[in-house]
Amino acid sequence: MTDTARIIAIANQKGGVGKTTTSVNLATAMAACGRRVLLVDFDPQGNASTGFGIKLDARRDANSYRLLTGEVGAREACYKTDIAGLDVLPAIVDLSAAEIELAEVDAREFRLQTALQIVVAHYDYIFIDCPPSLGLLTINALCAADCVIVPLQCEFYALEGLSQLMRTIQMVQQGLNRHLVVQGIVLTMHDSRNKLSEMVANDVRAHFRNLVYNTVIPRNIRISEAPSFGQPVLIYDLKCAGAQAYVALAAELLSQEKEAV
Ligand SMILES: Nc1ncnc2c1ncn2[C@@H]1O[C@H](COP(=O)(O)OP(=O)(O)OP(=O)(O)O)[C@@H](O)[C@H]1O
Ligand SMILES: [Mg+2]
Repeated sequence: MTDTARIIAIANQKGGVGKTTTSVNLATAMAACGRRVLLVDFDPQGNASTGFGIKLDARRDANSYRLLTGEVGAREACYKTDIAGLDVLPAIVDLSAAEIELAEVDAREFRLQTALQIVVAHYDYIFIDCPPSLGLLTINALCAADCVIVPLQCEFYALEGLSQLMRTIQMVQQGLNRHLVVQGIVLTMHDSRNKLSEMVANDVRAHFRNLVYNTVIPRNIRISEAPSFGQPVLIYDLKCAGAQAYVALAAELLSQEKEAV
């Protein structure tokens, strides 16, 4: 383990594919494996923050928007969760203004990277939950990150947009962040009884081969219930198939890292 965090952006500009669910539960599973983890909520919708039950009042002063504007430092903006080793840097809706406000600022793509420098030594992993767009927020996440994990929903339009995401990642690799890599693609909301789900999963594996995680996240009702209790599914119902899939995904990520070393 190095002495600075490995920063992982969870990105896909397509909406509702499981970015936040993957960020919240993979971060929780990694903390459960004894790693020091920070989850940065970088989506103005603030779903990851709500998913941990962080009330709006508690995040009004210190959040990812004010981190970008320089009004707060990363250390003040990190919120301790009830889960040992897991902190969240929450988001509020004001973050949507950053796309426009940053447009004229120098080094606008590197605001997040710069702001996180002060905490990288405090964590083993930093996950960034990206918004469903390829705007300046996602570009900031890709510039701050060492790697990207792409959640892909097992449905007909899944592959649509993936080439655009890959082109954006390439553009960042060529001009802004040369060491960025795609860590993996994770298939989400998979329904083994649904033929289409199977076909999409097979197609994605045929195209992307080793880049696709063996672990597939099943469509699971407990996963969708957990956020309304302000809990990751691992806390809400550890035994359910959805929670167990995220535990398996964390194990796969850890073994990838071991191989890389
Ligand atoms: N494996 C799953 N089984 C059942 N429901 C799921 C699963 N994964 C995600 N969901 C539900 O699907 C919806 C979209 O998931 P999520 O919010 O994680 O996607 P997202 O990509 O972050 O969305 P957005 O693009 O809006 O940020 C949520 O209501 C979530 O609870
Ligand atoms: Mg989301």
